[in-house]
Amino acid sequence: MKLISASDVAKHDSQKSCWMIIHGKVYDLTNFLEEHPGGKKILLKYAGKDATEAFDPIHPKDIIAKYLPPEVCLGEIDVSTIVAEKKEETPEEKARQLAIQNKPHISEMLNLHDFEAVAKQVLRADAWAYYSSGADDEITLRENHNAFHRIWLKPRVMVNVTHVDMSTKLLGYDSSFPLYITACALGKLGHPEGEVILTRAANKQKIIQLLPTLASCSLDEMVNASVVGQILFYQLYVNSDRKISEQIVRTAEAKGCKALFITVDAPQLGRREKDMRQKFVINPPDMQDDKDLKTRDEGAARAISKFIDPGLCWEDIKWFKSITRMPIIIKGIQSAEDSVLAWQHGCQGIVISNHGGRQLDTSPSAIEILPSAIAALKAAGADLNKFEVYIDGGIRRGSDIFKAIALGAKAVGLGRPTLYGMSTYGEAGVERVLQLLKDEFEMVMRLMGVTSIDQITPDMVDIRNLGNHISTVPRDYLSSGVYDKMLPRRSKL
Ligand SMILES: Cc1cc2nc3c(=O)[nH]c(=O)nc-3n(C[C@H](O)[C@H](O)[C@H](O)COP(=O)(O)O)c2cc1C
Ligand SMILES: *[C@@H]1O[C@H](CO)[C@@H](O)[C@H](O)[C@H]1NC(C)=O
Ligand SMILES: *[C@@H]1O[C@H](CO)[C@@H](O)[C@H](O)[C@H]1NC(C)=O
Repeated sequence: MKLISASDVAKHDSQKSCWMIIHGKVYDLTNFLEEHPGGKKILLKYAGKDATEAFDPIHPKDIIAKYLPPEVCLGEIDVSTIVAEKKEETPEEKARQLAIQNKPHISEMLNLHDFEAVAKQVLRADAWAYYSSGADDEITLRENHNAFHRIWLKPRVMVNVTHVDMSTKLLGYDSSFPLYITACALGKLGHPEGEVILTRAANKQKIIQLLPTLASCSLDEMVNASVVGQILFYQLYVNSDRKISEQIVRTAEAKGCKALFITVDAPQLGRREKDMRQKFVINPPDMQDDKDLKTRDEGAARAISKFIDPGLCWEDIKWFKSITRMPIIIKGIQSAEDSVLAWQHGCQGIVISNHGGRQLDTSPSAIEILPSAIAALKAAGADLNKFEVYIDGGIRRGSDIFKAIALGAKAVGLGRPTLYGMSTYGEAGVERVLQLLKDEFEMVMRLMGVTSIDQITPDMVDIRNLGNHISTVPRDYLSSGVYDKMLPRRSKL
């Protein structure tokens, strides 16, 4: 490959000619500027420079080779010509480094909230903003966990609980307890290795991972990180270009994924203001230029999701069934009515989910919808041994899992806590997050007087208050403690 000097690359730093270095290779992205899903502005920011650090969290390594013609790659950077840039450490970065040094020992982490608290201190500001944010006023985000507080347990005693069996099956595949790692985009924002860490931890804990379309790692890397026989499911964002979706689905199936979870709650991305605000801090707008308002990129989330098809509808299910033999699960159901429609359209299951409170604010929590969804499905004649109902959102305690199972869920999805475990302590962190939940769940089963999953029944939970939203906005002390206030714009110095 041709060697190119850094000073040559630096000359191509404009819209007329835009070169950049990514992973040691030099690319000419001039013709791609207008097409870049994240906008051309961010590309121009790195024109003539090395963009690897910014590229990595947002893109799988193989994306350029997959989607751009080979001639965009001009050659390799001549490493001897690179002049190291001296970066000034900001006070925020200094504080973050200190927090990393003084992080508690992993054995001191006693519950999932602990991981969130440490993650807030050790994550880069943009990563924290992307992971933690919810839509609008974040009412649904808080409600997701709070709703579990309105369900009370009815324990039974004097049952022989010497041996408790937590194991179950998801779509026929073994799981050590009724929980899976759900799909979350951009794993490399939290850890340089990204989603493969979750894949490895899922294997250690014998649970299933749902691989995201928008992973920072490529599908190959995630599949490669799994062991023979490890079960992986695939989460799909449906592209407006159905040919691309078809190719993704066929590839996922060919690589051995066992189920297709189609995300349907994001025809437009919600407003996640923490995330949007973060972009303004990193890349302050030109105050003199009103036009800037329209062309600004709007945070990591919106930048990576422009391709999602708002035209997706029930009629499309037939087509998906024609291109794959994987069972189809609809992720993002938020009503009893749609639960029944998913069954009527021949899907094999649903995830009741509001996307972790990141989409429609004041959409109800999954746990609140669950009892009515189960009742409606039964009334419509669905066989709940064949049509599986999952929920996600706000699962933070073993008792939350118990309540979901009691109300008819087959399993629950875990989102942010896996990201926080990964961001704070890597693979060991994710494993500990899962182990803590497992231990809590086992304890709750024992204290509830059950020894297997099939013994967990609706009469064990009191949901009389579940639908009551008496308080104006549910208060969540943890969330209040970590809420990010708007700060004055930082100066460029
Ligand atoms: C940072 C982040 C990224 C996410 N990315 C996706 C995604 O790419 N696809 C998807 O279907 N859901 C995505 N979700 C939603 C999760 O799959 C899940 O519904 C939600 O996180 C569950 O709530 P929890 O975080 O309270 O556990 C994301 C959630 C978070 C927090
Ligand atoms: C309780 O269960 C354990 C294990 O399942 C069994 O070994 C034990 O004999 C049981 N005790 C009684 C009193 O039945
Ligand atoms: C697959 O994994 C092996 C060892 O874990 C590694 O050496 C190899 O580079 C990986 N391949 C890909 C495509 O990630």
